Amino acid sequence: MASSIILLIAMTVLLAAFNHKPIFDDRIWTLNALISTLSTASKACLLAAVASCISQENWVLFSGKPRRLYDFELISGASRGPFGSFKVLTSFKLRGGGLVRLGALATILTLAMDPFSQQLVQLHSSQDRRVDEASIAYASRYSQGTLVSGMTAYSITKDGHVKTQGADVYANADFAMQAAVAFGLAADADAIMEQASFHCPGVECDFKPLESLSVCSQCSDVTDSLKKNTLSMGDQYSNLQYDPSIAEAQANCTEYRLPNGLFLNNMDHKYGPRSSMVYMSMLGTSDQDKTVAMKDVDTLIWSQTVIKVDADPNSNSTKTWPDFKVSASECALYYCTRRYEGDYKIGFINITSTELKDHKRNPQSWQPLDPRFQSGHGVAEKVVKSLAYDPQESIIRRTDLQLGTTAGWNISDEAVYGTSYYMQTLFANCLNSPENCTQAVESWGVPNGFYISRLSNFSGEEKQAEQFRPSVAKVLWETEDYEQVFDNIAASMSNAIRSGADGGQIEKGDVLQPTTVYVVAWPWITLHAAIELGGLVLLVLIIRSSGSNTAHIWKSSELAVLSKGAALGDVFKETHTKDELEERAKNIPTVLVNKHEMGQVEGSSDFLLTDRRNVA
Ligand SMILES: *[C@@H]1O[C@H](CO)[C@@H](O)[C@H](O)[C@H]1NC(C)=O
Ligand SMILES: *[C@@H]1O[C@H](CO)[C@@H](O)[C@H](O)[C@H]1NC(C)=O
Ligand SMILES: *[C@@H]1O[C@H](CO)[C@@H](O)[C@H](O)[C@H]1NC(C)=O
Ligand SMILES: *[C@@H]1O[C@H](CO)[C@@H](O)[C@H](O)[C@H]1NC(C)=O
Ligand SMILES: *[C@@H]1O[C@H](CO)[C@@H](O)[C@H](O)[C@H]1NC(C)=O
Ligand SMILES: *[C@@H]1O[C@H](CO)[C@@H](O)[C@H](O)[C@H]1NC(C)=O
Repeated sequence: MASSIILLIAMTVLLAAFNHKPIFDDRIWTLNALISTLSTASKACLLAAVASCISQENWVLFSGKPRRLYDFELISGASRGPFGSFKVLTSFKLRGGGLVRLGALATILTLAMDPFSQQLVQLHSSQDRRVDEASIAYASRYSQGTLVSGMTAYSITKDGHVKTQGADVYANADFAMQAAVAFGLAADADAIMEQASFHCPGVECDFKPLESLSVCSQCSDVTDSLKKNTLSMGDQYSNLQYDPSIAEAQANCTEYRLPNGLFLNNMDHKYGPRSSMVYMSMLGTSDQDKTVAMKDVDTLIWSQTVIKVDADPNSNSTKTWPDFKVSASECALYYCTRRYEGDYKIGFINITSTELKDHKRNPQSWQPLDPRFQSGHGVAEKVVKSLAYDPQESIIRRTDLQLGTTAGWNISDEAVYGTSYYMQTLFANCLNSPENCTQAVESWGVPNGFYISRLSNFSGEEKQAEQFRPSVAKVLWETEDYEQVFDNIAASMSNAIRSGADGGQIEKGDVLQPTTVYVVAWPWITLHAAIELGGLVLLVLIIRSSGSNTAHIWKSSELAVLSKGAALGDVFKETHTKDELEERAKNIPTVLVNKHEMGQVEGSSDFLLTDRRNVA
């Protein structure tokens, strides 16, 4: 009994030790096998103890009042296993067998111990957090870009502009930045998010929120600013098309014009999808004063204004200009700081960001290094503040452009000039006459981008022959969501800034590894405890009743049983089958152990009497 309880306690300790622990990877042993072994060993010990108790109680019962000899058979059956125990429990004729019934119940219940012990250990999946093993890049200073200026001779004009002699200043964006802008135009938002620079050595990662230097975008519907007039010649198509030999014009044609000078016109009642038409005109600038709605964006990289005609070139519509809706929008890209939050799950990174609007351009930053260029020396305020690339004025080297006033969020002049140059050449083309095209975007004329198309008849097959410049014009014409395109460009440029940051700064994150742990379902141990308790109670009661009784501690000794054979005399005389034996036993009240003769191997006088009576 004691060993059984010790085994049960060992099992409980083992369970408590492995509760909520990851499963151990031993090839031979599993926790279930250990628990099952302990449970079975505990059960075996318990059963042995209970069987002894039942047998002993058998002797105790047969040392009291005379009783049916068949009960002896019944009770010793109970000590042999569950089937006998079941018979004891269902036999109502058994008198005074309370303790035996308790033992029988315990024996039957032990049957359930194994399944219950299997239920004890359950597996749950949970997450193991490996702190700071993941990382994500952020930028506090960005300085990638090219700036080449060999000239020293310059003059300052009357209106405060800087004029240099000799070659232009050359600047360009870092190639990774160039690729990022192009990718932003071509890819969708999810694909751009995937390009973020991060490291997650696991299945799932949780990144700490971080702040970084970034590029933001904002868009504005400027349709309300469009002014309609009928004073144009409708000759924009003729001026933009590649082949200048076919020029058409007509007085008093409808034209739409924005305050920044961008316009769109077509020949009235003639142009449309069944003929030729200007579908979109574009004006891009790095100068906030040349925008319609971005005049207060003081970290402007690029502003792109478009006027679009709401017409489908490929439709067979016979509608003609000016019976179309015309809309105008403007989107800007500018330096900003953003707060990023992100996680990585099953192969997908999800980063959300919000712009930190309180990190404004620091007026003390972006100062000319050479004091002669500072605003007191005849250089215009506008030139001193400008972030735009200019082939002559970019000779002015600067301190970093800084956002906010605390340390960090700096962009070097190479990066600012280089990115500006790249945006000018990507989003705009010089549509002026070649002799007037310089490197300065202002000389490129208005518009500096377009999408036009003409219906052509190639050997009987009608087709739209589209023309556009620069290449991004087609992307901007085809998009349904102009704002999304600029969001994507900004996100992609931000990726390039974060991965190209000075010093390769990273913020840490946690790796979340899914693991399987053991969870002990403690309620299932109540059966073990109850049976164990029942066994203990039984043992104590039997020891007490054995002590107060005369029976010897014979337990289930077969020899003790045989020794009583003589006491029965010839009760079973003339019986041959098992049924006859049982029938005889059921009718004979017996005391096997005489109280007065203290365990002597002798039948009682009661038995002898009743025997005679029965035989008679
Ligand atoms: C254009 O309009 C003006 C006034 O609105 C008119 O005097 C002129 O004759 C028109 N020209 C043509 C070609 O219709
Ligand atoms: C325009 O008409 C042509 C032939 O008449 C037809 O093949 C084509 O599908 C039509 N296009 C649209 C957009 O309806
Ligand atoms: C990304 O995260 C944001 C907020 O954390 C959540 O609202 C959004 O549903 C997530 N997107 C995906 C695709 O999981
Ligand atoms: C950032 O820019 C400010 C102003 O131009 C400058 O004072 C500061 O030293 C710069 N910080 C770094 C880290 O370059
Ligand atoms: C080219 O520039 C000159 C001088 O600035 C100007 O007179 C001329 O009209 C311009 N040509 C074109 C086609 O814009
Ligand atoms: C295209 O050409 C075919 C014959 O070459 C002609 O029958 C048809 O009318 C033309 N269509 C247009 C729109 O000019």
